Amino acid sequence: MTIYRGTIFDVAEDAFPGARLRADDDAGLRVVDGIITERAAFTAVRAAHPDDDVVDLRPGIVLPGFVDTHVHFPQVRIIGGLGMPLLQWLDECALPEEERLASVEYARGVAADFVRGLASAGTTTSLVFGSHFAGAVDVLFEEVARVGLRVTAGLVVSDRSLPEPLLTTPERSYEEASALAQRWHRPEGRTRYAVTPRFSYSAGDDLLDACHRVLKDVPGSWFTSHLNENPAEIAAVGAKFPTAHHYLDTYDRHGLVGRASVFAHNVHPTDGELELLGRSGAAVSHCPTSNSALGSGLFPLRRHLDHGVHVALGSDVGAGTGFSLFKEGLQSYFVQQLLGGEGTSLTSADLLHLATRSGAAALGLGEVVGDLSVGKQFDALWLCPREGGPLDVGLRHAASPEQALAKAFTLAGPADVAATWVGGDHVTSR
Ligand code: GUN
Ligand code: ZN
Repeated sequence: MTIYRGTIFDVAEDAFPGARLRADDDAGLRVVDGIITERAAFTAVRAAHPDDDVVDLRPGIVLPGFVDTHVHFPQVRIIGGLGMPLLQWLDECALPEEERLASVEYARGVAADFVRGLASAGTTTSLVFGSHFAGAVDVLFEEVARVGLRVTAGLVVSDRSLPEPLLTTPERSYEEASALAQRWHRPEGRTRYAVTPRFSYSAGDDLLDACHRVLKDVPGSWFTSHLNENPAEIAAVGAKFPTAHHYLDTYDRHGLVGRASVFAHNVHPTDGELELLGRSGAAVSHCPTSNSALGSGLFPLRRHLDHGVHVALGSDVGAGTGFSLFKEGLQSYFVQQLLGGEGTSLTSADLLHLATRSGAAALGLGEVVGDLSVGKQFDALWLCPREGGPLDVGLRHAASPEQALAKAFTLAGPADVAATWVGGDHVTSR
């Protein structure tokens, strides 16, 4: 039994935008078997449990672990390939690196870099785009299980329009996905399987049918892919699926749009697509730094919310510029500011909602993680900047918890994350 002592910030209710920050100064969280069993003033929790261990997380702020709903495992080493739009960036940056994961030895090194990147940024739960190679996906899950993160991931599949080594067939994709799910899909544990066609530009109808079969045959599995990221990509998808009503229809007509689906980007949706997303309960992963770095466009958050579409946050490493959801939160704020009257003004509590509760809900884990309430898993990060640095100065001079949180989103990076826990297990320290 452990009592964690510190200043705790989280968002405990589902209002977005208009999220309300819950900020408790000198609080105690009692954790038993990884689950928060009490949350009150530290002195009260301590008095009730004088023999428990105490972990003192003062100074700084304890936040719920971040939830990244779109991040690519094979791309950790190519972050920073600036200056190209999506299709050129795929050809010149992403796909050559992804071919290297045919070597399990190479993939092992990438998996270590990737999992360390997530954990040290305070990301405790993620929906991960795996690799086109089943051996590399095994290696990813092995590393995730060793470190103890919550990860939903799967084999990335394509059967056209990519370099030949990255292609599969519907039959092989079904067999490899089923075998991976057998080994790693544990809906009550920390690893789950995600059916992952790369995007319908590189997936024909038979392959998407095979994806649907895996989704049906693996109860509790998740679905993820890309959607409406870039105008040239959207036009190319239209040319490959001449009878589809729109990009989302290329997935929907194979039964791949539902409550367990997460679509990355959706920067250029039609109203019909937003209606379908809202009606089906599918979520959109908004990837702000990626959209800016690739020049993909300004995310229409207001239109998503008007259609009742669930929106969460994704780093989209490696088109995105790093693992930190502080940075993604800040960039999402910038983009909404730039949209002026068409944007949605986001508060610091809204950014925290996006980085935690929204992601947990998008992944069907809203009862398990996303805030630090009694009954939830103790998945948390300790934000503790180095003394005298800009974040330390900012936090010392914040006039309110909301201001302190805004300073955190503005100034914090992975170097300010002093420790991360998942289910009460300490997974990393600075
Ligand atoms: N669309 C298809 N593949 C990718 C990818 O790796 N990154 C991004 N941002 N978009 C994609
Ligand atoms: Zn992506």
